Amino acid sequence: MQKIISGCILVTAFILTACNNVSKKKSSDIAIVSEQEIENAPSPKNFESTIDNKPTALYILKNGNMQVMVTNYGARIVSIIVPDKNGKPTDVAVGYAAIKPYTEGADTYFGAIVGRYGNRIAKGKFNLDGKTYSLATNDGPNHLHGGKKGFSRQVWDANQTSDSSITLTYISGDGEEGYPGTLTSKVTYTVNNNDRLKIEYAATTTSPTILNLTNHTYFNLNGEGSGTVNNHLFMINATTFTPIDSTFIPIGKLEAVKGTPFDFTTSKSLSATVNDTANRQIKNGKGYDHNFVLNTKGNIHQIAAEVSGDQSGIVMDVYTTQPGLQFYGGNFMDGSHNLKYGKKDDYRTAFCMETQHYPDSPNEPGFPSTVLKPGETFSSETIYAFSAK
Ligand code: GAL
Repeated sequence: MQKIISGCILVTAFILTACNNVSKKKSSDIAIVSEQEIENAPSPKNFESTIDNKPTALYILKNGNMQVMVTNYGARIVSIIVPDKNGKPTDVAVGYAAIKPYTEGADTYFGAIVGRYGNRIAKGKFNLDGKTYSLATNDGPNHLHGGKKGFSRQVWDANQTSDSSITLTYISGDGEEGYPGTLTSKVTYTVNNNDRLKIEYAATTTSPTILNLTNHTYFNLNGEGSGTVNNHLFMINATTFTPIDSTFIPIGKLEAVKGTPFDFTTSKSLSATVNDTANRQIKNGKGYDHNFVLNTKGNIHQIAAEVSGDQSGIVMDVYTTQPGLQFYGGNFMDGSHNLKYGKKDDYRTAFCMETQHYPDSPNEPGFPSTVLKPGETFSSETIYAFSAK
């Protein structure tokens, strides 16, 4: 608790400093922090609650210029503050200022760890060791992000081990949401003094099961709520992707990106292609909402993706041990939620880069396996590395 309080003082000081800086700047400058925003900013007090008989809280990680806020409700990232090209602290993650909106209405998955199986499973059915399992169909005919509550609306146990690192644990019971095996998942967030956020995942099970854990942070590299992300520049290190049907389920084959709107092998904005519904895949995805097959093949030392904010100069590099990356361009954002600095979650004002296995892998023998057996430990790592230019 002491850590949270001293962290809170730090954040307040940080935001106040930012505010002073902002007030001196011209209105054409990107300003994410204003007087009103200070009132709305997340505070530990606004995250203190009891849900499912467990306490929820806000945890603050800080190292160098970077600060990340996490809540144990859904192991969610609430805010990521990094300097822009002028050194101004900028919050590049979408989130709420309090715990309550995270619990209300349909889940937007802002900042959450999604599981047991993040992304979709066709018709909510899969076969494992000769037995068919049925999961909730909570996205049209399909299963999405672990079901009705998934992991994003569970209260995780939190252990903040230092000013810059926290480990969250969730034990999902045998049969929860229809999945077999008691699955223990651990997620560790660590912030280093070089503006890098590392996410480590570990999981074990008591019986064979399937899993696909990822983080679902929505980013706007110009700052939360600062307009469209279609003019950001995107590079994705993938020469193939998994085309989908009209219900977002992969049709089973890989398709080359070359010559299609899905070629991000050299950096480009989304604006020229995101509405190109003559392209069947853009139409099916309602824009960009597809799994890219990473050329990195699990090598965390090779870059998986790079995105830059067209106004802030903030660059985010993604590194991962995972084989795929779901690139989601905020096509379901509809302006119906109030974000932490008073802006709305308008259409395509954020994007997600969800490092993961391919959607519907349990029904696609040709895709890398997502089965976890007792005695094995699943582990993976993803790094979001920030800089500014
Ligand atoms: C993404 C998914 C989208 C949408 C979104 C939540 O991971 O790819 O299709 O479901 O989550 O609104």
